[in-house]
Amino acid sequence: MSPTPVTFSSPTAPASYSWEATNEEVAARYDVDLRTIVRFDLNTSPTPPALVERLLAAGEFDAPLSEYPPSDYRRLVAAAAARYDVGTNELLVGAGADEILDVIAKAFIAPGSRAIVPSPSYAMYRVCTEQRGATVVAVPRRGASQSWALDLDAVRVAARDASVIWLCSPNNPTALSEPDGLIDDLLAALDADAADDGRPAPIVVLDEAYAEFVGTSLVRLRVRYPNLIVVRTISKAYALAGLRVGFAIGRPEMIAQLNPYRPPGSVSVVSVTIATEALLDDTILDSNLERVVRERARLTDALRTAGWSVGASVANFVLVDLGSPQRASTVAEALLTRGLVPRTFGSGHPLAQHLRLTVRDPHENDRLIEAAQDLAKEASA
Ligand SMILES: Cc1ncc(COP(=O)(O)O)c(C=O)c1O
Repeated sequence: MSPTPVTFSSPTAPASYSWEATNEEVAARYDVDLRTIVRFDLNTSPTPPALVERLLAAGEFDAPLSEYPPSDYRRLVAAAAARYDVGTNELLVGAGADEILDVIAKAFIAPGSRAIVPSPSYAMYRVCTEQRGATVVAVPRRGASQSWALDLDAVRVAARDASVIWLCSPNNPTALSEPDGLIDDLLAALDADAADDGRPAPIVVLDEAYAEFVGTSLVRLRVRYPNLIVVRTISKAYALAGLRVGFAIGRPEMIAQLNPYRPPGSVSVVSVTIATEALLDDTILDSNLERVVRERARLTDALRTAGWSVGASVANFVLVDLGSPQRASTVAEALLTRGLVPRTFGSGHPLAQHLRLTVRDPHENDRLIEAAQDLAKEASA
C-alpha cells in the first residue's frame, strides 16, 4: 500500500469551522423534544463545578459589570500560573484556547507562509492558518494500529520551510497522546535542522486542551525550547467551556511576542472571577476526572459489546470506526433521531468512516448504549 500523501491546502478560500446542528435544528429536523437532546459532539464535561452557582449567587466579581475586566487579568493570571506551575510572565489569557490559537496565528503566520498539521487533528489549526492567507501542510499521522502517532520524519521534512507546527496531545479527534518522548525528539530535531540551515526553529504550538485527563504536561519543555507555546484551557477537564477561558504558556519573551495580538478584555468579568476561583480550587478536577475514567471504560465496553469498533482513549471522548462512510452516516442519522448528537467527519475527511463521541453522564451514556444495541439488533434481524 502506498503511503498517504502530504497535502497542501489553498489559502485563497479559508476553511471555516463547521459545527454539528444546534439543539433547535436537531429538534426541528428530527422531531425530538429539545430538552432531551444530548451533545456527544463537543468534548465538554456535562456538569459545571458547584462553585459556579455560589459565585453567581454572591454576585461579587473582579470588577462591577459596568466596567471592563482588569486589563492584565492579574488575579486570573496568578491563579493559572500557580496551577500550571509557571511564572506569571509566562502566561497569556485568551477567550478560550481558540482565541489563543488565533493570537498565535496572527503573531507568527504570515501570508504566503506554511504551517504543518499532523493530520487528522483539531480543525481550528487549519482555519487559523488559512485565515492568515497561509497554506496548511497536512502530514498524515500513522494509523490507528500505531496509536495515530505523528510521523516524526515526515513532519521534520515538511517543517524545513514552515513557520508554525500545530501539535495536539492528547490529540483531538484520535483520543490518544503522542508516544512518550516523541515531542521532545521532534523539538530537538527541529532545532538541529534549523541550526544546520542557519535559520530560527519554527514555532511549535502544543495544544494540551485535554492534558488533565492524562495528568501529564510538557510545559516544562519551554525552558529548553523557547520556540514552544503550550495551550491550555478550562473548557474540558474543569467543565467550564461556557466561560471561554484559555491560556498560552511559553517563555516570557514568547509571551511578549504574542501579547500585542491579544484583544483587550475579551474575557468577561464574570468569566475572570469564576475561572480564577476554579483554578485555585483543588477539588474540582478530581471528581470530574474520576467520572470520565469510570464512564469511558463503561461506555467503551458496552459499545464494543454492541459490535462497534471503539478506539482506545485517554481523553473525555472516544473515536468509533464504523467501517465505511455510509455506515457512519447511517449511524449518525439513527442517533440524531433519538436526540443524540455525534461528531461527524465530512466525506473526504480521513476519518469519514468514524464518529467521535463525548463521554457524558451515566444516564446520557446509557441512551447512547441503548441506541447502539438497538442498531445491532436491527442489523441482525
Ligand atoms: C484540541 C482542542 N483545542 C482547543 C479547543 C478549544 O478550546 P476552548 O473551549 O478553550 O476554546 C478544543 C475544543 O474542542 C480542542 O479540542
